[in-house]
Amino acid sequence: MSTAPGYQSPVVTVTATLPKRGLGSAVLVVPVVSGDDDAASPKVVGNPFLDAEAVGEIEVALAALGAKGGAEATTRVLVPSLPVSSVLAVGLGKARDEYPAELIRKVSGVAARALSGTESVVTTLGELDLEAAVEGLILGAYRFSEFRSAKTAPKDPALAKITVLATDKGAKAAAIRAADIATAVATARDFVNTPPSHLFPDEFAKRARALGEATGLQVEVLDEKALAKAGYGGIVGVGKGSSRQPRLVRLIHKGGGRKAKTVALVGKGITFDTGGISIKPAASMHHMTSDMGGAAAVIATVVLAAKQKLPIDVIATVPMAENMPSATAQRPGDVLTQYGGITVEVLNTDAEGRLILADAIVRACEDEPDYLIETSTLTGAQTVALGARTPGVMGSDEFRDRVARLSQEVGENAWPMPLPEELKDDLKSSVADLANISGSRFAGMLVAGVYLREFVADGVQWAHVDIAGPAYNTGGPWGYTGKGGTGVPTRTMFAVLEDVAANG
Ligand code: BES
Ligand code: MN
Ligand code: ZN
Repeated sequence: MSTAPGYQSPVVTVTATLPKRGLGSAVLVVPVVSGDDDAASPKVVGNPFLDAEAVGEIEVALAALGAKGGAEATTRVLVPSLPVSSVLAVGLGKARDEYPAELIRKVSGVAARALSGTESVVTTLGELDLEAAVEGLILGAYRFSEFRSAKTAPKDPALAKITVLATDKGAKAAAIRAADIATAVATARDFVNTPPSHLFPDEFAKRARALGEATGLQVEVLDEKALAKAGYGGIVGVGKGSSRQPRLVRLIHKGGGRKAKTVALVGKGITFDTGGISIKPAASMHHMTSDMGGAAAVIATVVLAAKQKLPIDVIATVPMAENMPSATAQRPGDVLTQYGGITVEVLNTDAEGRLILADAIVRACEDEPDYLIETSTLTGAQTVALGARTPGVMGSDEFRDRVARLSQEVGENAWPMPLPEELKDDLKSSVADLANISGSRFAGMLVAGVYLREFVADGVQWAHVDIAGPAYNTGGPWGYTGKGGTGVPTRTMFAVLEDVAANG
């Protein structure tokens, strides 16, 4: 069970010319742009691989079908002179000198979804942005069918082979890097999509261990006894309502020399959040299968860092618990002691994320990291403030802005938010050092960030990324994102790690 197969990423190969044979039933994906006025038909772009005749055939067919080449529009055409079964034209909208990476990622994802059931794809999209094309194709093709029996399992094969046409010398290395990144995102998605019946703290810890050991990471797992003994009051308090015991997983990548930077990653791993005794309404409670989205992304990221041999140290600290109401559950009004000694009055058992995260943050800071990124499906207030696709990032001003900038570069689009000093007063308790909720309805996302700030050691540059909405797509598919787990913010965190490796 702990080595569940998960999504098999397609194999990516790079070649400088369109193979004359051997492509079988492959589909060729070609980017097109819209004409200068509404009547004009689409034009093929970025294409040193097809001769004028083939390009002409594609453009004539598109014109005949009335295609416009608008952004993300797809049109399938037959081009008998080419050694592929058909051609899928994907629109980029208006022609430009350079196309944003996120546009290439999106149209590649749209193409992969439009070709669902196609085993092999060849594409010229790599000539515009190779990494974006590979990421978009792999992520767009992602599917999760582990829990479908023969009755409803997809009959069509999954995308198994991507052939990228590219003239650039560094293309091969770039393709491997992009495939590794996309595969890490798929790993995070698999974790999120695995239902709480099958992914509970002990099982999650076992799977994290298996992944970590397979990549050469050092792995430590604390079980419920070790957690209680060491004083992890937040993790124990949240976990004690469930018959499935909590865990704390640590995955350590030692990639740097003596002077290398250390980055701590912390991710919320609530395998299911009922709210506990402060129970949630039934209507959307099943979405709380995504309440370990932060943990999933953190585990995928540290494994990716090891795979990519990043020359820094990365230490993931991942608390895992199931938040259940029961005769052994913590009560509203209980007081617990977080790891490190701060006492907390638990006024609402549904504000459980911050309780397990505070313990994990204190533990992570014992390693004296230079930077700490913590990410969590922490507050419904995140979606109220920023919507379902925009993570909120809070923390040390400079590092927060750096994380947000890099997140926007990779298309995950985290946005900087403040942690106003005055909100701390709202967390005053009449019996303990802190309360776990504020008495006010205002600024719920920021209040949670202010709570977490109390646990970050002085001198650590930190960022808190709230992904309550962005971790899980409850709407229809779009771009390279399907329904369910999105894998956000794996690519943001990896971009930060690479940036720290390059620039300190
Ligand atoms: N896991 C939830 C936050 C959440 C809400 C994630 C919607 C994804 C979608 C978190 O544990 C929670 O319940 N937060 C409470 C905090 C409140 C009690 C202060 C919330 O947002 O309502
Ligand atoms: Mn909750
Ligand atoms: Zn939660």
